[in-house]
Amino acid sequence: MKLLVTGGAGFIGSNFIRYVLRENPDWGIVNLDKLTYAGNLENLKDVETHPRYRFVRGDIADREFINELFQQEHFDVVVNFAAESHVDRSILDASPFLETNVKGTQVLLEAAKTYGIQKFVQISTDEVYGSIKEGQFTETSPLRPSSPYSASKAAADLLCMAYYKTFGVPVVITRSSNNYGPYQFPEKLIPLMIRNALQGQLLPVYGTGENVRDWLYVEDNCKAITLVVEQGRIGEVYNIGGGEERKNIEIVMLLCELVAEKMGKSSEDLKKLITFVKDRPGHDFRYALDSTKIQNELGWSPSVSLEEGLSRTVDWYLQNREWIERVVSGEYREYYSRVYEQGWR
Ligand code: NAD
Ligand code: TYD
Repeated sequence: MKLLVTGGAGFIGSNFIRYVLRENPDWGIVNLDKLTYAGNLENLKDVETHPRYRFVRGDIADREFINELFQQEHFDVVVNFAAESHVDRSILDASPFLETNVKGTQVLLEAAKTYGIQKFVQISTDEVYGSIKEGQFTETSPLRPSSPYSASKAAADLLCMAYYKTFGVPVVITRSSNNYGPYQFPEKLIPLMIRNALQGQLLPVYGTGENVRDWLYVEDNCKAITLVVEQGRIGEVYNIGGGEERKNIEIVMLLCELVAEKMGKSSEDLKKLITFVKDRPGHDFRYALDSTKIQNELGWSPSVSLEEGLSRTVDWYLQNREWIERVVSGEYREYYSRVYEQGWR
């Protein structure tokens, strides 16, 4: 089976490609990525010469390029990870989110319609449902996105369902909770805190730190997406929740303890770096997913506990400190200082 994986040089995409090449010997992958600040071919160094893998640089919103690629390659399945993925950046400038997340998805759907494929898996997010104080979102909950990021992802989901209903494009959508693990760009909570703790820099917690996220180890998500590629029903949505809800401040405390333990440092010294900063505008209070559907239909449930996953993640960042510094050089430094100097912090 031949897969087009878009955004495969990013965090979840690179983990997915590595997982598929290991677990699915009959699947070949073309990885299409624009290589934005978040895309890094170093994330796939170990598989770059794999006989069932090929990289192509390009933009999913470039209609001509996408049409040529589909014409040449005859894909069986598309897995669309490519996106602008960071809420904070979408608050600073929403335009690239509309271009990639909305227009890019529509260009891919159009190519899927024209050239024909067996399945189009759209990688979406729990953030499209908005925030929930109590209880959990199911796949039929209304979409009430809060940020430009989540609004662009919700728009993409609606386009996917429209292309399914109107043109019969064989779409399936996954909506996962917050992922964490190796190769995550250190602008997101967990890798940012690990990096700053390693460097003795401040640990910026938004607002009171009471906001709740449900954490999913990235490999568990890769397993779920693989099951959806194989057995997910066309026209359906599948929630993929980690079942590990924590307040942000609890995550930061846990990370201080883990980093301290592994570095032979005092966790109290690291916790002194925690700084409560001005809250993110429109900050969703809590995300929580009901994953009964994927559990019952596809037999999936998460297998890595938060404690185990965080320990593995901290180990990986400790062993890959040069990777962290390389990916945050250049454009990212400008963004980081802009957010600190002019942003809401
Ligand atoms: P990421 O930012 O690490 O990677 C995104 C990748 O997409 C990068 O390699 C980037 O170069 C590429 N890309 C961006 N614009 C492109 C374009 N126009 N054409 C081709 N490639 C382009 O993101 P991630 O965290 O790996 O997220 C992957 C997907 O999963 C996204 O669709 C995101 O919305 C979704 N998601 C992420 C999380 C999470 O916690 N990280 C949770 C739920 C859903
Ligand atoms: P993030 O990793 O950006 O994911 P998302 O906003 O998409 O869930 O943030 C996770 C949570 O951590 C969110 O509630 C915002 C908070 N946060 C901080 O408190 N400090 C930070 O420096 C960052 C990046 C996030």
